[in-house]
Amino acid sequence: MEERIVSGELQGQEDMEELSLRPQTLSQYIGQKAVKENLTVFIEAAKMREECLDHVLLYGPPGLGKTTLAMIIANEMGVNLRTTSGPAIERPGDLAAVLSGLEPGDVLFIDEIHRLNRSVEEVLYPAMEDYFLDIVIGKGPSARSVRVDLPPFTLVGATTRAGMISAPLRDRFGVVSRLEYYTHGELQEIVERTADVLEVSMDTEAAVEVSGRSRGTPRIANRILRRIRDFAQVRGDGTINLSITQQALELLQVDPLGLDQIDHILLMNIIEKFRGGPVGLDTIAATIGEEAHTIEDVYEPYLMQIGFLQRTPRGRMVTPLVYDHFDLEVPKR
Ligand SMILES: Nc1ncnc2c1ncn2[C@@H]1O[C@H](COP(=O)(O)OP(=O)(O)O)[C@@H](O)[C@H]1O
Ligand SMILES: [Mg+2]
Repeated sequence: MEERIVSGELQGQEDMEELSLRPQTLSQYIGQKAVKENLTVFIEAAKMREECLDHVLLYGPPGLGKTTLAMIIANEMGVNLRTTSGPAIERPGDLAAVLSGLEPGDVLFIDEIHRLNRSVEEVLYPAMEDYFLDIVIGKGPSARSVRVDLPPFTLVGATTRAGMISAPLRDRFGVVSRLEYYTHGELQEIVERTADVLEVSMDTEAAVEVSGRSRGTPRIANRILRRIRDFAQVRGDGTINLSITQQALELLQVDPLGLDQIDHILLMNIIEKFRGGPVGLDTIAATIGEEAHTIEDVYEPYLMQIGFLQRTPRGRMVTPLVYDHFDLEVPKR
């Protein structure tokens, strides 16, 4: 797949820089007011009681700050952060190894926690509830179970899809927080902070422009900013102004609403091949050559948020707003 400027995923070489852009404390973390206020209280209370923080589940579309929050939680609690992910833990033994390596109070971050398999989940339940592991040694009639005590720890789970987490797992999180898309104002603050960290000068108008075209997503805002910085260096004098920003966004094929080529293909496909829908997700996926779960996790949430796409029991439908956006006539039904 081509590099997609607005995709929610990291692209290798920018990982390190991304790390330096992450806010380190709750007070540096912009937006997500409700989540932040709650966490501030829970963290403070846990510290006063000298306990570890209750388990936290964070959910929301990619790039909204889940991993960043996990890091901040560990930092604010003054403990170590251990990071792993659902797909990386294949067998119960893998999880047992991770858990038994924890030190008291540690934060264990499991990204993509909805991808843990059932047998691994079952090891996690007693670990979360009572800090112990039940390990089965051997097979068949000689198998026996051994109980291993664990230090108290905080599990922070992140997922793009809360609906895919099993109820017993979800119920074991004391704090469940949903991250929301950011407002333009919040994104502007984030972009300005990033420009500071990257030591590039940027006009306010340019920051406003980027914030409006970033699909409510800090990772996208930061990525667009880095690309514009390239343009400013090569085609301008290094300063990011509105004109350079607009030229860059045009070349990057990011439209005024922040939609990119894949969004366009997705929407136009529904209009041209399915008369605006309804059409099933799998059919859309097959006709545009993307995976259904990628469409569902990455592309759709924002299109639904801005009222371009609707989910109906019979499939996805575009709304009249899409016809307006593309200057097309709304078909008569
Ligand atoms: N609230 C925020 N304030 C400032 N920057 C943020 C915020 N949330 C996310 N970011 C930036 O966006 C990037 C993506 O965030 P990340 O935590 O990796 O998202 P997620 O894990 O939800 O996909 C981070 O590198 C960080 O620089
Ligand atoms: Mg993440």
